Amino acid sequence: MFHMGWFLGTGFGVYGWNQRWTGNAAKDMARPDLFIDVATSLERAGFDYMMLEDSCVIPDVFRGSMEFALKSGGIRQDPMPLVPILADATKHLGIIATASTSFYPPYLAARLMQTLDNLSDGRVGMNLVTSSPHAAAQNYGYEQHFPHDQRYEMADEWVACVRALWDTWEPDAVVMDQETGVFADYTKVHPANFEGKYYKSRGPLNTMPGPQRHPVICQAGGSNAGKDFGAKNADTIIASLAEDPGIENMKDYRDDVVARMIGFGRKPSEAKIMFLGHPIMADTDREAKEIAAGMAAATARNIEGQLAGMSYYSGLDFSTFDLDAPLPDVTGEVNGHLSLYQDFAKNAAGKTLREALVQRAQTLSSVDLIGTPESVAVQMGEIMDYVGGDGFLIRALPTRKNVTEMCDGLAPQLRKRGLIRSEYEFDTFKENLLAY
Ligand SMILES: Cc1cc2nc3c(=O)[nH]c(=O)nc-3n(C[C@H](O)[C@H](O)[C@H](O)COP(=O)(O)O)c2cc1C
Repeated sequence: MFHMGWFLGTGFGVYGWNQRWTGNAAKDMARPDLFIDVATSLERAGFDYMMLEDSCVIPDVFRGSMEFALKSGGIRQDPMPLVPILADATKHLGIIATASTSFYPPYLAARLMQTLDNLSDGRVGMNLVTSSPHAAAQNYGYEQHFPHDQRYEMADEWVACVRALWDTWEPDAVVMDQETGVFADYTKVHPANFEGKYYKSRGPLNTMPGPQRHPVICQAGGSNAGKDFGAKNADTIIASLAEDPGIENMKDYRDDVVARMIGFGRKPSEAKIMFLGHPIMADTDREAKEIAAGMAAATARNIEGQLAGMSYYSGLDFSTFDLDAPLPDVTGEVNGHLSLYQDFAKNAAGKTLREALVQRAQTLSSVDLIGTPESVAVQMGEIMDYVGGDGFLIRALPTRKNVTEMCDGLAPQLRKRGLIRSEYEFDTFKENLLAY
């Protein structure tokens, strides 16, 4: 059996507001309705979690302007307030929202997550990112963002601080004894007195621990520093090999992360490694292949969108590069999503930038998943058998049409083959995630 999640790639943002099949997306963009529908559908399908991406900036690296981002709806609401709304609409689904270790003070994050854990009966997680680009850091009062590897060094200490705060209440500290009138045993609530190189917090939390005590930590860094951070701290690691896809690369990625986990004294079963996948399905395999080819062609035509995306990920203005010349060597200048850029640059070698972007458009996910729901279910099972991974993180535009395809077309086929759960065994997100 493997696990399933859904990645909402622009968080509590705007999804296909001017596209076919997106219903009321334009009108409802800042409302929870679509997200509630997604969450309840994922639960019906037995998914482990729904993951809300986040960023805290209107991108302006591309052409040195916000024009492209604003024209295309590149905005986000804060995902955290959405979490209890989604939890209220579901009973078992895990809900992960993204938080930046670079900008959230540890005390604020530790307290927020315990509050959300209580509100959701133990079903929250946080996706820890170190954030890019410089403009994000400037929103929080810094001149420039911290260098890539230093961000992960800080993030590592940040997690230690947050965990120390979560541990300030012993498991049996809450007494709630009506006879004696004691709410909590003060001898079992301690300061954290955390003092590191970057963070300092006194504690204890003034918030009751939630059912999970340590909510799920999710992580997506693909660089050496990012992989180490995930291997040391995460309960679920999400990997996109879209820039460098294929099952051999998936296997290598997993083996690498597992070796790092063992190096940190952890068991491989303590973190579930999920690969980003975009199943493209139809009533026949041939039809599905045609749809996939149409999507790749549309992405390839959208050179402007791709350049804007690469500018955001790299922090470099791709509009200044000659499309009909090789990608210039800018190694050392990238301070954004480093591993994504490195994978792109590796595959761009020997090509013009335009050719590299066209090639990039052919792959939507870590591996091709194209066919009928039946054949995609078989492919997913075979891939997981080979890779030894723990599951897939669906990345598709969350239209009700796509959600129905995944939840009412694909999931029953996976379940029929014994590949995903048929019911939730435990009460909390973490227990279900680590159950197998
Ligand atoms: C599935 C997935 C989800 C991600 N979600 C976010 C996010 O919500 N916010 C963000 O700033 N970065 C996000 N990232 C970027 C990662 O945090 C990271 O910067 C990127 O994978 C490159 O890794 P590296 O920084 O270790 O090179 C995501 C990456 C992946 C693959």
